[in-house]
Amino acid sequence: MNVSPARLKSAGPDRLGRYYTQDRIGSFLVEQMTGPEPAAVLDLGAGGGSLSLAAMTRWSGAELITVDIDSFSRAKLRERFRDAVVRHSHIRADALRIDLPKLVSSSINSIDAAVCNPPFIIPKWRTEFGHIIEEAGFSSSISTLPDVDAALLFLAQNIRLMSKGGALGIVLPDSLVSSVKYRPFRRDLLARFYVEKAVRLPRNSFAKTDAQAHILVIRKNACSASAVVLQELNEGFEGRELMVSVEQAEDRLDFRYHAQRVAFSSIYRARTRRLSDITQVLTRGCFTSAEVKNSNYPVLHTTDIPEELCGCWCDISSFGKSQPASGSRFAIAEPGDVLVARVGRNLERKVIGVAKGYARLSDCVYKIRVAEAHRELLLKRLGSESGRVWLASQAYGVSAKQLTKSSLLAFPF
Ligand SMILES: C[S@@+](CC[C@H](N)C(=O)[O-])C[C@H]1O[C@@H](n2cnc3c(N)ncnc32)[C@H](O)[C@@H]1O
Repeated sequence: MNVSPARLKSAGPDRLGRYYTQDRIGSFLVEQMTGPEPAAVLDLGAGGGSLSLAAMTRWSGAELITVDIDSFSRAKLRERFRDAVVRHSHIRADALRIDLPKLVSSSINSIDAAVCNPPFIIPKWRTEFGHIIEEAGFSSSISTLPDVDAALLFLAQNIRLMSKGGALGIVLPDSLVSSVKYRPFRRDLLARFYVEKAVRLPRNSFAKTDAQAHILVIRKNACSASAVVLQELNEGFEGRELMVSVEQAEDRLDFRYHAQRVAFSSIYRARTRRLSDITQVLTRGCFTSAEVKNSNYPVLHTTDIPEELCGCWCDISSFGKSQPASGSRFAIAEPGDVLVARVGRNLERKVIGVAKGYARLSDCVYKIRVAEAHRELLLKRLGSESGRVWLASQAYGVSAKQLTKSSLLAFPF
């Protein structure tokens, strides 16, 4: 089977992360929040008001306070609420100002519920962000600074603004829920707050994006939980639940990851070796996507790996019939190697073996070399249904997913 060069696509994000929540997701988020009817509800980054309206539909007696930096937000909120919300104040401001509690307290004394769908962007670092994070109790997360997701800052700001015992329903990007970078944040969150529930959302939950997001329901009080309820909501809006320990939740707050870990535990228990035990080389290519586009010679990128060839030995000689005379900078795929996509929406379906030919690789492709005796079995296992499920459960990411080298090395072989 032949693999040959394909073309690349790209897309650009909105500067303020204005991807609005679909109404049914807004209602779902509010339904997850337990406890007595709040007196005041806060919505930071309220946008067009999907979450605010859902909250006010449920808690019609509450007072609403919305904040958004976007000058169009006020008119959008007015249009959406018309007469539906009686007591509403809107502040046009940067929600990440250190003095926001002062601004908000001029409208409302105490906030006992908050809803939030923050922008999924990484803002330019300001010193006050460090104070917001620290004051909210996420000081371990500071080691990952200064490129911190706005979502973490919005969460921290909500915590600062809420009164003790207050409930927060917040939409978070997959990175906060799954990535190694944010593990210290999850540790702090689980230790200091009561995480009532984490729900993995379907990809189409927001207008104009298919970002992978989750809802977290958090209560600001002294006692943390000993177990966390995880849920996955499918496209048909049906939910499946499971419970994990706090240590497991610290690893990931993602239903799918843990459900697959449980489902395949008997298969994987029988396999005592890891990929790391048999790997001679596990490396990735050196060409960035931009270099792939501008390169004078063909470079094998994830887009060149057809999903229908997953698990097959392929002829890649259209990229090169012999070993390129290049420096050691280039990871070259050669016969016998197994190639696995490192990045991509369906990376678990992009696993091939090289039967013939040579190729320079983009940095989105891993090359795995094992002894000849293991090659057939490795490709069979990585490309099998259970292998794909395993890869999918390890991959994380808001838009394109990614697979870390350490996760791949942990593949039960
Ligand atoms: C993902 S949208 C969510 C909007 C709305 N809450 C919803 O769920 O549909 C994020 C919102 O945050 C606002 N935003 C972005 N950066 C902000 C900032 N620094 N301060 C306040 N609002 C901000 C955007 O204008 C946008 O309305």
